[in-house]
Amino acid sequence: MASINKGKSICVFSAKGGVGKTFITTNLAGVYELMKKKVLIIDLDLFSGGIAASLNIDFDKNIYNCIDDITNNRYHNFTDYIYKYDDYISILPSPKDPRQALKIDAKYIELLIERAMFLYDIVLIDTNHILNDINLFMLDKVDKILFTVTNDMLDLKNMKSVISIFKDLELSNYKVLLNNSRDPFKDYFSLYDMKSILKTNIDFTLSNKFFIRDIDKYLMDGKIISLDKRLSNIYSRDISNLYDIGAELIKEGDK
Ligand SMILES: Nc1ncnc2c1ncn2[C@@H]1O[C@H](COP(=O)(O)OP(=O)(O)O)[C@@H](O)[C@H]1O
Ligand SMILES: [Mg+2]
Repeated sequence: MASINKGKSICVFSAKGGVGKTFITTNLAGVYELMKKKVLIIDLDLFSGGIAASLNIDFDKNIYNCIDDITNNRYHNFTDYIYKYDDYISILPSPKDPRQALKIDAKYIELLIERAMFLYDIVLIDTNHILNDINLFMLDKVDKILFTVTNDMLDLKNMKSVISIFKDLELSNYKVLLNNSRDPFKDYFSLYDMKSILKTNIDFTLSNKFFIRDIDKYLMDGKIISLDKRLSNIYSRDISNLYDIGAELIKEGDK
């Protein structure tokens, strides 16, 4: 049978806001670019998306327009809603107006991801931490999920619930990333404690050395750390970790 050229879809998910999902998503896009993969980032953080802003991309149309056009038979090309960061990375932005977010019908999310997977090698989905219909449809559809957790009591408690739901549903297409770069001084729980709380393995760690004091300066410039030679040298250990994480998430063989 002829193989169909279909990309991999990955969602960066968490049980709490502000744990570094958006930062990790853009920097993973960067490592996939280094692997010469064509990447689409879908910003499903519909009420407070930050992908376009952190990559410094101006946009007009967004995911709401795309779905609205599909529902009203006005849709022509997926690329009409896509904005380029560079030759490898493109984005499908979240709505500028949060009122549009309320009008997005969850049932179109799968279709959107499916369409994107035929056009890109990698479809990266950034979202919020809420288990609503949109995220549930999306989590069910993607090939891999990267659960991002920090060394924080409430974050760990909530992530424990998310992981136990996944276990109940017999879903195992996820990896767990401990992000120590977001709050470098939070280190109350040991790795052993955290694994015991979560009742799962922690597959990857980003270290507290990856805390970037002047991150806002880079975000304002739309700079991706993993694509910047100088910064990649400074944070070489964690960039190399991110590269391994990226490679692991698209490894053949698992769903
Ligand atoms: N490695 C890092 N070093 C410094 N600040 C970071 C780092 N990662 C994330 N941040 C900052 O922490 C905040 C939350 O990160 P963000 O990626 O937006 O989290 P989320 O998408 O999970 O809400 C942002 O202000 C972001 O700039
Ligand atoms: Mg975010």
